[in-house]
Amino acid sequence: MNRFHLYFLAGIILLSACQPSPNAPSTSVSSPDGKLSVDMMLVDNGKPAYLVKKNGAILIDTSTLGLDIAGQPFLGENMTISSASSSEFSETWEMPWGEQRMVNNTYHQLSVDFQEKGENPRSMTLVFRVYNDGLGFRYELPGTDSITIMDERTQFALTSDPMVWWIPGDWDSYEHLYNSTRFSAIDALSKANHPNLIASYIPQNAVNTPVTMKTDDGVYLSFHEAALLDYPGITLKVDPAALSMETELVGGLNDVKAKVGLPFHSPWRSIHIADRAGDLIESNLTVNLNEPNKLGDISDYFTPIKYMGIWWHMHLNKNSWDYASGKHGATTAEAKRMIDYASANGIEGLLVEGWNTGWEHWIGFDDREGVFDFVTPYPDYDLEEVVSYGKEHNVQIIMHHETSAAPRTYDQQMDTAYALMEKLGIHAVKTGYVGPIIPKGEHHHGQWMVQHYHRAELAGAAHKVAVNAHEPIAATGLRRTWPNIIAREGLRGQEFNTWSVEGGNSTEHLTIVPFTRMLSGPIDYTPGIFKRDLRPYRDNELNTTLGHELALYVVIYSPVQMIADLPEHIGDHPGMQFIRDVGVDWEQSKVLDGEVGDFLVMAREERDSHNWFVGAVTDENAREVSVSLDFLPEGKTFTANLYLDGPDAGYKGNLTDLVIETREVKKGDVLTLPLAEGGGAAVSLLAK
Ligand code: NOJ
Ligand code: CA
Repeated sequence: MNRFHLYFLAGIILLSACQPSPNAPSTSVSSPDGKLSVDMMLVDNGKPAYLVKKNGAILIDTSTLGLDIAGQPFLGENMTISSASSSEFSETWEMPWGEQRMVNNTYHQLSVDFQEKGENPRSMTLVFRVYNDGLGFRYELPGTDSITIMDERTQFALTSDPMVWWIPGDWDSYEHLYNSTRFSAIDALSKANHPNLIASYIPQNAVNTPVTMKTDDGVYLSFHEAALLDYPGITLKVDPAALSMETELVGGLNDVKAKVGLPFHSPWRSIHIADRAGDLIESNLTVNLNEPNKLGDISDYFTPIKYMGIWWHMHLNKNSWDYASGKHGATTAEAKRMIDYASANGIEGLLVEGWNTGWEHWIGFDDREGVFDFVTPYPDYDLEEVVSYGKEHNVQIIMHHETSAAPRTYDQQMDTAYALMEKLGIHAVKTGYVGPIIPKGEHHHGQWMVQHYHRAELAGAAHKVAVNAHEPIAATGLRRTWPNIIAREGLRGQEFNTWSVEGGNSTEHLTIVPFTRMLSGPIDYTPGIFKRDLRPYRDNELNTTLGHELALYVVIYSPVQMIADLPEHIGDHPGMQFIRDVGVDWEQSKVLDGEVGDFLVMAREERDSHNWFVGAVTDENAREVSVSLDFLPEGKTFTANLYLDGPDAGYKGNLTDLVIETREVKKGDVLTLPLAEGGGAAVSLLAK
């Protein structure tokens, strides 16, 4: 198959246009395999509603829909159905980089037009797309003017009290540990006043998305959104007694949530639905609900890479970002030392944080506007010299722009900063938004910031710059449309393992993240810590083994994967060979086994080399997993290098006990991987 060829297998076929009676239920649509169905209807004398069935049983019960619009009555009652139509769509599209090369996108669509009764009726359309692996729906409003949306009242009525893996509905941060409780026990307000979050606002009992659930019948559900543009992010308000959720848009200044032009359509509200936990990860629902690539081929400036950084230095407190501290990390000499180590290990990128002026006044100050300068290096850092030294050694510099949550300052400088990057041949930037947003009253996940993050992404594209935002708005699959949106943070990352006063990320953290946060998109978690006892720098240890850490290169997907530790901590550790070998761009990805919060075993095939890699992580329980190598091609031999927890390994025992075994394998062979408590295993299968 030609890798740059886009396959359109079918277009839109208008199947029906009908005039249903205003009595419920009026219209329905099924997934291509017929297992999922959605009915739309009117309830309580004129409220638009939907319900979702799986194999004929109700999964999401009758749930109403509507919008609070400033200066107008609630739009979502006293309505009739004026018309409805259905269509089918199927295509296969190619990811320029990603978890897999070819993506199938097949859905059945239903559009239902609602109209108010009475004089001067307003109208509203609900569009549902039903896939085999879930569904998405959105609001569409006609018109020519603009409106202010005060809130969106989209309900999700559950039919049982499932297990839920949730973080609180924080308007400023996703950097919470996941909680595992029954739905009826969700208590987000108890997570307020987190000691390590300097920007956090949890106004009520709500959760952030993706939020993943498992019913007692073994059905997995995950609620999120797709194609979030020019609108606030959602939180889902929880009614523990009624077992239902309702959207609450993240607010902004003066309690205004969304100012939108007409005609308008909302982002997609999405529900992943699966029989197997791993199917959530294999699903492409989030990207499929986005528009096709608008940038074309960007491989002249971005292809996936592994990178190191002048980064852990500061989180360990060995160095500092600011020059005045007297222990400035980003020096020309240190950058060259890092480039030498990266280059010797085939690592093609180096992130340098703390290179530019402003860090003396970033965290803990209220007046952070105009402080950072994104073109002026500190005196001990020669940007041009570092870039050219990197080029000589095949290591590209990754730019760093910490905005300290002063987006107006960044807006003013963005274009100049990206133009400088383009001139120097720097094609990726990590941005950061630490702290409460200025102006006060705006939030990281509100409409104003959603617009800002996207402005940076578009300005980046114009200057051939790929963007990796920290403290971002959640990913919603926009990378399909703008593939220079490469990754983001938006979770509790590696950094918490060093300075968190709660003693770092939990042992089970990364057995939950792939089934929750990762459903939204690539994660810059920044793995690669070899020295897991952080003394003398910090009085902390990590809560998982080195085998677990190596497995993250397979388990956590990102087109930019960090090797976060310092060269002197890695040295010539034999585990580094796995990182040298491991792919970062994939032909296909498979979840071999897993349960949310317990364990996960994944296999991925690298593009071009067709080498395979397996990663397995477990929670605080030791277990043995069998990996049947059915996925290997027929008739080929592979060299398997197994990086396994050693006999003393464990989160309470030895964090770095690693044994390495090598053998020849072929399709059908079975590998047995022993995972210690908090352990993991990484396997490279190199084609001979
Ligand atoms: C928070 C980011 O997550 C981290 O990676 C970065 O080092 C600091 N901000 C400084 O920008
Ligand atoms: Ca962060």
